[in-house]
Amino acid sequence: MAMKIPVTAGDFRAQARSQLPRFLFDYLDGGANDEHTLHANETAWRDVTLRQRVLVDVDQVDTCTTLGGQACVMPVVLAPVGLAGMMAKRGEVQALRAANSAGIPFTLSTVGICPLSEVEAAASAPFWFQLYMIRDRGRVENLLHKAWQAGCRTLVFTVDLPIPGMRHRDTRNGLGATGLRATTLRLQQVLSRPNWLWNVALRGGPLTFGNLSEAVPGARNLDAFKAWVDSQFDPTVTWVDIAWLRQHWQGTLILKGILEAEDARHAVQVGADGIVVSNHGGRQLDGVAATASKLPAIVAAVGGQTEILVDGGIRSGVDVFRALALGASGVMIGRPWAWALAAAGETGITDLLQSWQQELRLAMMMTGVTEIASIGCAQLDHVSEFPAGK
Ligand SMILES: Cc1cc2nc3c(=O)[nH]c(=O)nc-3n(C[C@H](O)[C@H](O)[C@H](O)COP(=O)(O)O)c2cc1C
Repeated sequence: MAMKIPVTAGDFRAQARSQLPRFLFDYLDGGANDEHTLHANETAWRDVTLRQRVLVDVDQVDTCTTLGGQACVMPVVLAPVGLAGMMAKRGEVQALRAANSAGIPFTLSTVGICPLSEVEAAASAPFWFQLYMIRDRGRVENLLHKAWQAGCRTLVFTVDLPIPGMRHRDTRNGLGATGLRATTLRLQQVLSRPNWLWNVALRGGPLTFGNLSEAVPGARNLDAFKAWVDSQFDPTVTWVDIAWLRQHWQGTLILKGILEAEDARHAVQVGADGIVVSNHGGRQLDGVAATASKLPAIVAAVGGQTEILVDGGIRSGVDVFRALALGASGVMIGRPWAWALAAAGETGITDLLQSWQQELRLAMMMTGVTEIASIGCAQLDHVSEFPAGK
């Protein structure tokens, strides 16, 4: 049966499922524990209803804005996704190219496959770098230096991963386990995806952690990654370390993984230029609230003092509009771009972003706004439920 043309994030997800070995699809798709927070993230946006307005001149609609000091064609940033280079051949480079042609920022993860230098060589605009704090501060300084040399001027420091979450799908697929049973399971999964085996596993190498190759020379697979993360990510990090980071990074500093207004205030105090309201896409603590429901209180606490981005469960251009109506300046997206990458590479991401921009434009026209800066609580139905929207 001929495959239909993928249009939505859900369409790309279905295609990604058919392209990727099961353990990789599950690593990408899954969340922590029973995945309640993961699902809540998605449904919370759908519950935000909008006000249709008519007979407004919406001939000239502009989706452009500025995020992290960088001009963007729409208020969307590709979030850091570890191991994206396992989803498609040199995946981070493909995603960067799609982001560059869409006119939005791409964020390279600390645990990406492609190294900073490879991404830089393909870049036609500055990209963002995401940092996890590693125990050895010398290595962190070295990474920061390399990121700066590669032209990155926005650093996304992730603060919600003192330890990786309990991702049961990964455990079920034998990740982190050794022995014949786990190896056989994964081998079967790989052999059932010959396209992936040929294009990514055989022709897409090296499949190592490009930015950590000196730190983890043997890190060739998900098991090694997990072992390295477990031993090297630094759970002692506090606000004091953010001050250290502030001194070592002259560019824009964004803290990703803030979910409480109190922490958002702290972020402002330590000099963060921006925050990402995030629960890591429901991959850390299953049981925390959806980001859409936490956003308004954070906007009320620090809106105007720092730039507020949000991520988690955003699945369409209309969701982007909803996030802005609730007071965010922009959004990050994780799974949607990685699904599109796995399904159709750079072209897949390009198509998805074009469709989202059109959805965003349509939402603006149908609610009677023509500029990103004008989107706010006036476009929300049931405003009383979201009193803190801007
Ligand atoms: C497969 C996968 C890998 C991720 N890796 C990272 C990472 O390396 N660094 C990071 O800060 N966040 C990481 N995240 C979280 C995303 O940056 C983002 O917060 C999350 O995906 C947003 O939710 P969404 O996927 O529903 O859009 C990852 C998410 C996924 C799905």
